[in-house]
Amino acid sequence: MFIYTNQENNQFHLTNGKVSYIFHVMKNGQLGHLYYGKALRHRSDFSHLQTYDVPTPASCHPYEDDPAFSLETLRQEYPAYGNSDFREPAISVGKEDVPHVPNFIYDSFKIVEGKPRLEGLPSTYVNDDEEASTLQIVLRDQFLQAELTLHYTIFRDQPVITRSASLKNEGTGNLVIDRLMGASVDLPDKEFIFTHLAGTWSRERQVKERSLEMGIQSISSLRGASSHHHNPFLALKRPAATEDTGEVYGFNFVYSSNFLMQVEVDHYDMARLTVGIHPMGFKWNLQPAESFQTPEVVMVYSDQGLNGMSQAFHTLYRQHLIPKQWKTEDRPILINNWEATYFDFNEEKLVDIARSASELGIELFVLDDGWFGKRNDDTSSLGDWHVDFDKLPDGLESLAAKISETGMKFGLWFEPEMISPNSELFREHPDWAVGVPGQSYTLGRNQLVLDFSRPEIVDYIYEKMSDIMKRTNLSYIKWDMNRNITEAFSQVLSARQQGEFFHRYILGVYRLYERLTSEFPHVLFESCAGGGGRFDPGMMYYAPQAWTSDDTDAVERLKIQYGTSFAYPIYSMGSHVSAVPNHQTLRETPLSTRANTAYFGTFGYELNPLLLSEEEREEIEEQVAFYKQHRSLIRDGQFYRLLSPFEGNETAWMVVSPDQSEALVGYYKVLATPNGRKHQTLRLSGLDEGRIYQAEGRDYYGDELMQVGLPLPTEFNGANSKQALRGGDFQSEVFYVKSR
Ligand code: GLA
Repeated sequence: MFIYTNQENNQFHLTNGKVSYIFHVMKNGQLGHLYYGKALRHRSDFSHLQTYDVPTPASCHPYEDDPAFSLETLRQEYPAYGNSDFREPAISVGKEDVPHVPNFIYDSFKIVEGKPRLEGLPSTYVNDDEEASTLQIVLRDQFLQAELTLHYTIFRDQPVITRSASLKNEGTGNLVIDRLMGASVDLPDKEFIFTHLAGTWSRERQVKERSLEMGIQSISSLRGASSHHHNPFLALKRPAATEDTGEVYGFNFVYSSNFLMQVEVDHYDMARLTVGIHPMGFKWNLQPAESFQTPEVVMVYSDQGLNGMSQAFHTLYRQHLIPKQWKTEDRPILINNWEATYFDFNEEKLVDIARSASELGIELFVLDDGWFGKRNDDTSSLGDWHVDFDKLPDGLESLAAKISETGMKFGLWFEPEMISPNSELFREHPDWAVGVPGQSYTLGRNQLVLDFSRPEIVDYIYEKMSDIMKRTNLSYIKWDMNRNITEAFSQVLSARQQGEFFHRYILGVYRLYERLTSEFPHVLFESCAGGGGRFDPGMMYYAPQAWTSDDTDAVERLKIQYGTSFAYPIYSMGSHVSAVPNHQTLRETPLSTRANTAYFGTFGYELNPLLLSEEEREEIEEQVAFYKQHRSLIRDGQFYRLLSPFEGNETAWMVVSPDQSEALVGYYKVLATPNGRKHQTLRLSGLDEGRIYQAEGRDYYGDELMQVGLPLPTEFNGANSKQALRGGDFQSEVFYVKSR
């Protein structure tokens, strides 16, 4: 439907009117890249897009009589190393101990309407086959007796192409894969700003930018998780592009473990982008008849700036990634007891919190860490998934029933992938922990990691979790993962297979998610990893929301949520109102600002409602009612970033309903400024220019709100205490804009 094939010239053109992606078979039988960007009209021959360079005396070339044909300068589709291309390859595979330069030659293609699922891996999907078309290109290496398939899907309604690769061993001996990337794209120039999301615990996904330069620039993770430190997201933005204008290419890797996203700018200023499983520490043995499938790379092209890119990701993930049942269902407003009690609770305390929260209109009570084994702090009991009768003498069932009597749903925290050295499970199965036998273990938060590369361990945890889910009629699970993997060895894999460990581990995690989410489709999963250490599309395929950060401070959250919105829908970001002074920063922000920030996410509370004053309770009741009223707008609306917290003292964003009839606008000013700008307005986006909207009791045309802007309330300036509507630091407003 969206794939043209010029069969005489062996050319392929994927286009949907928004984006074009064109490649062909080169004269050496390998694939060459021709174009990726804004949609081009189709024509029967694109050969002229292959630009030959004048050969330089030093270049290497496979054809004696054609020195211009050098892989060093030609743009390629899925390059190998060892021929005349000296850049970093997409593939490196060989027979054990037999030297060979991979040489995958075009064999055939197949077009499939819709999009086949990737086996064992999370991936984007279609709801019906008309929503996308998939092109599969088959290449063969005769010597290796291996079949390489490159998978390209183009979506009908978004400027999105997804890519992955699979390799099949068709021979009789083993193959060893050292590198098999999800995608490689050779861009003709380097005039881009490399934009990514970096951070650490409590400070996730801060927007970072740098110009591309000759050499290799990359982001990666080698931690066994996609990580707090670098999100598997990268945008290449033209220097002149803004939030709303200009060209941006966005890439996101649908994977939750070690990854590499790199751009190599060569000596001719061409930029090669490579995205895939990090080759460091990776070595996969492919037995005869076996296949290896890479995770998927999502590629977005936007000619409407960063907002255009983000909106394409958001729409794709809302419609083609999260579990189907959560696309339209409201997510409950929750209260989580972590910051209210930490490990110090009993049944009475929990039920009191739940009852008090229920009176405020909150819908789900989540019992966080500390309900199992003998866990009174973080030094023990992970793996012992049975209730701690000292804290909850009548058991989880009794607690669940009492929570349900308060009118609330019940949710529980698990950290399924972990084992404490001080646990019954470890005493019984010390070999279940990841590590090298005979060598010391490195602890992280006093715990070790369970070897999820072993199916029997995944099965054991499945039994424990599913049993509790059934017995307590759970509505929600917070799936945490609080440390990264060290000594990454499995005690059951042979020495030769240890390079498979990280990938096998995450496949085990996906398998457990798959079993639990298919058996309990009504249970809402929220992923978490010490806050936002695994906020990636791989997790989102199973868990439609993720705990964005352990940092609940409203000011810090502006940056974290702003950065996260580059790739992920706001309705995927767990965002809670917590107590002040804030537990991470000791900052005191107004209750209104804490809610005004948290509304732009999946909303909840992380405080003790029994400690609130009457005024605070009234305010929270209103907040809860407000969120319920606008929940579907936040879920389905188009999100626009307006002012960046990375650039100044003010932040603003808004979400517009799909029919443009209403919008919610958040405006935040971190520090008060005395006698500042007069007549300050906030220019909105995404409205219908000709429609009349009501905002703050006045009528405006959409174009007025977008060109002139919405007047911001007067700020206290040292003289106008009577007229001022806002004063002091950390002030904010949320405006509701509705068409008449
Ligand atoms: C992690 C999570 C927190 C909380 C604690 C419990 O840090 O991110 O929200 O669940 O673990 O130990």
